[in-house]
Amino acid sequence: MEKTKTPLLLIISCLLTAAADSEAVWFENICQGKENLVKLTVYIQDIQGGPSPTVYTVAISPISASSPGGFGVINVVDHLVTAGPDINSEAVGRAQGLAILADLHTVAASENINFVFTAGEFNGSTITTIGRNQVANSERELTVAGGTGAFRFARGYAITRTYLEDTVADYLVLQYTFYVTRYAGASRGTV
Ligand SMILES: *[C@@H]1O[C@H](CO)[C@@H](O)[C@H](O)[C@H]1NC(C)=O
Repeated sequence: MEKTKTPLLLIISCLLTAAADSEAVWFENICQGKENLVKLTVYIQDIQGGPSPTVYTVAISPISASSPGGFGVINVVDHLVTAGPDINSEAVGRAQGLAILADLHTVAASENINFVFTAGEFNGSTITTIGRNQVANSERELTVAGGTGAFRFARGYAITRTYLEDTVADYLVLQYTFYVTRYAGASRGTV
């Protein structure tokens, strides 16, 4: 019985009112359409220089050095994410993924960054952003492609700005504001 998950079985599950476990409660919330829009602002601490950088270049192309946009450079990042712009403000997670310089004419990254929350309301949940980031623009818009945990079925977008640029320390603070849908009670384990 258990092993055949037909569409019919899924529809019947939506009609169950007595939720036996947190997964069932979560699923019921989805069925009942308790979808909210969340606005969430966090800051990435992008440490490029010093003894403990949080970004590394892992590949370059034969034309990266001569290309105006550094075409073909691939960076892997694992940045601290904080609640406020100050690096000593509350740590709320990590921003992990790839930034690939993918424009032959200007500096624009093709990014896939996963925001992994490690504290607060969304501890254990993730938001996945993808998109084009033309870093010289004052505002850039990225796609929220989805998420896990509290952000299952998430969709939306993120606006990012360079909040602080310290060229001496080779250090950036990036503001990310997410406008993202989520389902009430859609966290894993707690409802
Ligand atoms: C986040 O969740 C993990 C796993 O449940 C837990 O060990 C950790 O203490 C939590 N962190 C905070 C800051 O609540």
